[in-house]
Amino acid sequence: MTLSTADLRQKFIDYFKSHGHQAVASSSLVPADDPTLLFTNAGMNQFKDTFLGTEQRSYTRAVSSQRCVRAGGKHNDLENVGYTARHHTFFEMLGNFSFGDYFKKEAIEFAWNFLTKEIQLPKEKLLVTVYSEDDEAFDIWENHIGVPKEKIIRISTSDNFWSMGDTGPCGPCSEIFYDHGAHIWGGPPGTPEEDGDRFIEIWNLVFMQYNKQADGTMEPLPKPSIDTGMGLERISAILQNVHSNYEIDLFQNLIKASADIVGTQDLENKSLRVIADHIRSCSFLICDGVMPSNEGRGYVLRRIIRRAVRHGYKMGAQDIFFYKLVEALSKEMGAAYPELVDQRPVVEKVLRVEEEQFSKTLARGMAMLNDTLDALEGDTIPGDVVFKLYDTYGFPTDLTNDVAREHDLKIDEAGFEAAMQAQRERAQQASSFGADYNSKLAVEHQTSFTGYTEVEGEANVVELIADNAFCDSLADGQEGVVVLDQTPFYAESGGQSGDKGVLRVAKGEFIVTDTQKMGNAFAHKGKVKGVINKGDKASAAIDNSNREAVKKNHSATHLLHAALREILGEHVTQKGSLVEAQRMRFDFSHFEAMTTEQIAQVERRVNEEVRANHVLKTELMELDEAKASGAMALFGEKYDEKVRVVTMGPFSVELCGGTHVKSTGEIGLFKIVTEAGIASGVRRIEAVTGEHAIAYVQKQQSMLSEVSGLLKSDVQNVVERIISLQNHTKELEKALNSAKQKLASQQGADMLNSVIEIKGTKVLIANLEGVESKSLRSMMDDIKNRIGEGIVVLGVAGDNKVNLIAGVTKGLTSKVKAGELVNFVAAQVGGKGGGRPDMAQAGGSQPENLSAALDSINAWLEDKL
Ligand code: ALA
Repeated sequence: MTLSTADLRQKFIDYFKSHGHQAVASSSLVPADDPTLLFTNAGMNQFKDTFLGTEQRSYTRAVSSQRCVRAGGKHNDLENVGYTARHHTFFEMLGNFSFGDYFKKEAIEFAWNFLTKEIQLPKEKLLVTVYSEDDEAFDIWENHIGVPKEKIIRISTSDNFWSMGDTGPCGPCSEIFYDHGAHIWGGPPGTPEEDGDRFIEIWNLVFMQYNKQADGTMEPLPKPSIDTGMGLERISAILQNVHSNYEIDLFQNLIKASADIVGTQDLENKSLRVIADHIRSCSFLICDGVMPSNEGRGYVLRRIIRRAVRHGYKMGAQDIFFYKLVEALSKEMGAAYPELVDQRPVVEKVLRVEEEQFSKTLARGMAMLNDTLDALEGDTIPGDVVFKLYDTYGFPTDLTNDVAREHDLKIDEAGFEAAMQAQRERAQQASSFGADYNSKLAVEHQTSFTGYTEVEGEANVVELIADNAFCDSLADGQEGVVVLDQTPFYAESGGQSGDKGVLRVAKGEFIVTDTQKMGNAFAHKGKVKGVINKGDKASAAIDNSNREAVKKNHSATHLLHAALREILGEHVTQKGSLVEAQRMRFDFSHFEAMTTEQIAQVERRVNEEVRANHVLKTELMELDEAKASGAMALFGEKYDEKVRVVTMGPFSVELCGGTHVKSTGEIGLFKIVTEAGIASGVRRIEAVTGEHAIAYVQKQQSMLSEVSGLLKSDVQNVVERIISLQNHTKELEKALNSAKQKLASQQGADMLNSVIEIKGTKVLIANLEGVESKSLRSMMDDIKNRIGEGIVVLGVAGDNKVNLIAGVTKGLTSKVKAGELVNFVAAQVGGKGGGRPDMAQAGGSQPENLSAALDSINAWLEDKL
């Protein structure tokens, strides 16, 4: 049977649907809130909690075609892409799942029937493995299915015990292999030749039974379950009678499209495979909200893009090319993944911007690398070169490694690491002046925070610190840190700055200028008036007007986050924030500058939600519950099991530990002050709220009034007034230029009176004042016309410089060359020049010598004429 990849995907889903399975859409490549996982790497990821029994679904059987990326984390195939027939950064996993419904027997039956009946693979081409101790699975294959004993192989290694990561659901598995035939080298699984390409694993049936703990122990799952995974590209290759995944229809179409775009005829070029693979992972990662950056998932994406771009460059791509492939990819995969079609413009733009940026340094980096390779002795590219390529030219190490591998070389990873470490240390040294006062001390205490509801309260002084050491008291005027057992002071976290205020004790008071966390203790930092002792009772009061302003800004960041996602798209995620009393700063992923209209729109949207005056709800919830409520959590952030969820009407739900207004109306006014890029793919908005927003608007207003005053115009007419002034200035410039020209020509006419004759030849030598060098040529032309036949030299002295021009009319150039003449003069004023025999110009640096130099011309000409 021959089937297209798209038809095969559908056939798999239809088969399991007809056996009571719920078809479930592929989940995102960015696992929702699973810090144990970098990318979705198997079909079962989205069902993890269902296997564990902590999440109930309305069905007990499911089928999916799941997009997966294996380019980092436990399963990483990036380095092998392009070198083997079957490795991909992105692939699709077909899978059927049972959550405590059927188990081994049915799972094996379904798989066998699908392979041998639905898509008619010859039974004799198939062989299977089971986990060495799994007699039950062996028995099912042998006695129930009828696979001959010698084709059932027991494997004792982890190859037949599958786990999602270091922790999580796992169990023994049984794999089905396809024999591509004796003409291809390789042996069955478990033999020394198993790495050959003859016997290829096509389907993995995992009998999920345990939950692996961090300490390695295995807890039984509530109910035995099934998780299977079959690589769509591999099974397609078999059905299309080809051996390499890259030969299937889907890849061939992408390879042809890449060849067209980069302009090569050689469809066998390995780089085309790399590009065809990488456009899939990159496009889908961007679709799923990952943006190129220098860390985490974003850096994996950046590495893959840059690797693809380098392969295009290697084939001689003349232009930015990679993003152009998104079109071909949408054609191939858009029907199965409509999000790709919807997001195509975003994906294209992100890829284009990233490639444009990298292409600025790619050629120079490659030139340096090639020089290194030419001069290289031995088989290792030195670590400092790898580092320079990384640091100066933006070459991720695996890109350099890829080039090295093409030349049968290695890179010096240890040397690279050492160079990186040295740079980190330099950076640390540079930033560690004014060393953190509290970084070194381990404070045992745990401060409880009362500040969600209180602004002041009684407490005990449990620790005092001065000069980085614990102490028993702080004296008058001394700076230090006070730790309390409980406090209404918010310690800086989640971008919100720490509270200021005062701690009053019996014999003095401590003015708090900042509050920071030291482990679980809150450190009040400040200065004493009077004396404070360890063990004192203190009454703590925050500076409430400061806190009120901070609260407004913090709540506004939540509204801003939601508004940006609504207006710019779901790819926007928070990358950082700073919330102070005077202003807020919000960093987010987005690939280009916002337009003025988008900024205005976001501002309007936030202010609408301010006016809606939503009463804020804060609740403590289980993480799962919070996720289910749609709360926005930050990717890659690790949350406790109990999380605080802040809700503002239907508009914004976020996990957050900060302090907030009671209702959004308190924010008063939200005003964006700037929007700018701070790193590739990351933008920053600075904004103000409440009285600071009013003050900002008033300041703008008064500047405008001042401007209109200066322009003697109404505020309403300022713009017109400026345009009219600009036009007026242009007219004046024009008039001035023409007046200057007239003046120059007048001067030229006047100068004719100073013409002398040397041996019957008319000679005019003039020392001019205030003539611009660019007018000299037209003046010269003018004088030459008037004089008829003759020799002219004009000199102008300016600040520290001299401009000279010499003209000789055609009939005299055999005797005197303008170039020689001008150089004769220039040499005396510290310069030189050049030009044609009839006209030459020169500069000089000694205006004080100009008169004498001009005076010397007569004698020089006497000789020549
Ligand atoms: N989750 C199993 C795998 O990825 C099926 O191989």
